[in-house]
Amino acid sequence: MLKLIAIAAAAILPVAVFAQSPVVIKFSHVVATDTPKGKGAEAFKKCGEERAKGRVQIEVYPNSTLYKDGEELSALQLGAVQMLAPSLAKFGPLGVKEFEVFDLPYIFDSYEDLHKVTDGPIGASLMKKLESKGILGLAYWDNGFKDMSANKALRMPEDVRGLKMRIQSSKVLDTQMRALGGVPQVMAFSEVYQALQTGVVDGTENPPSNLYTQKMHEVQKYLTLSNHGYVGYAVITNRNFWMGLPPELRATLEACMQEATKVANDNAKKDNEDAIEAVRKSGRTQIITLTPQEKAAWKKALVKVHQQSEDRIPRELMLSIYKETGFKPD
Ligand code: LMR
Repeated sequence: MLKLIAIAAAAILPVAVFAQSPVVIKFSHVVATDTPKGKGAEAFKKCGEERAKGRVQIEVYPNSTLYKDGEELSALQLGAVQMLAPSLAKFGPLGVKEFEVFDLPYIFDSYEDLHKVTDGPIGASLMKKLESKGILGLAYWDNGFKDMSANKALRMPEDVRGLKMRIQSSKVLDTQMRALGGVPQVMAFSEVYQALQTGVVDGTENPPSNLYTQKMHEVQKYLTLSNHGYVGYAVITNRNFWMGLPPELRATLEACMQEATKVANDNAKKDNEDAIEAVRKSGRTQIITLTPQEKAAWKKALVKVHQQSEDRIPRELMLSIYKETGFKPD
C-alpha cells in the first residue's frame, strides 16, 4: 500500500514541482548586449517569460560574465548552463570541425548567400552533428563580415606579415593568418581588449559590431574594411534538458526562438554598419577602404586557404556550399 502511495507521489511530484517553481534557463554568451546576439538573447528572454507566464525564468549572462570561451561548451554538456550561442568558429575543440567551413575566407559574399546555407539542408545537417555531443542546435544567428584591425595600416595582405593576430579557436583561421604571414594566437574573446592594449597581440579580426562594443577601436589605430570572412552563431542547448521540458513549454520556447532569431538577424547588417560609423566618429581609428586592386590582392592571398583546409573540412561540404553561393576558389 505504502509503495503505491510512493509511486503515485513520484508521478505527481514532478508536475507539482514544475507547476510550482519556474524552470530556470541560464543563457550565457561572450558579447555585449548591444549586438545582434545580445539583442537576440534579450528578445528570447522577454518572449519566453511573457508567453510562459511565470513557468520559465530566463537569465541572460552577456560579456562572458558566467562562462567565457573555452569553458562554456563543457558547462553546457554538464548541464551547468542551459543555453549558449557560440560563434561557428568555436566548435572545432568539441570535435565538430565541419562548422569551420563558415570560416573559409570569402566563401559568402552576402547575407543572402549565407542564408542559403544556414536556412537550408546544409545548415540542418551541420546542426545534427552536435547531437552526438549531447547538444541540440536551435537556430543560426547572424553577426557579420569581418574586418582586420591593427596598429599598422593593413592595405595589402603582406602588411600582416610578422604581426601577432588574435583568432578564435579555429584551425581554418589559423591557416588564414599564416597564409598572410601573420602569427595566429587563439584567445578568449573576453581577453582580446587587454591583449591589444598591452601588445600581447598586434591585431585581430572581427565584425565591426564586436570591435566597437568591446572598445577595441580605442586600442587599434587602423581598421581595414576587408570583409574577408564571416562570424555567425549556433544557438544551442543541452539536449536532455530541452527534451525534458514539458512539451507545451518547449513549443512556446521554440516559437520564441524563431522570433528572437528574426530580431538577431534583422539587426545584424545595421548594427555592423552603425558600428563602422561610430568608429569613424570616434576619431580613434583610421578606417581603410580597399581599392578594387587591393581587395583582389586579399582575395588572391586568402582563397588558397580553402584547399589548405581540405584535411579538416570535407571537400564535398565545401563543394555543396560553392554550389549554393556560386563561390569560385580561383
Ligand atoms: C570572437 O571570439 O571573436 C567572437 O566569436 C565573439 C562572438 O561571439 O561574436
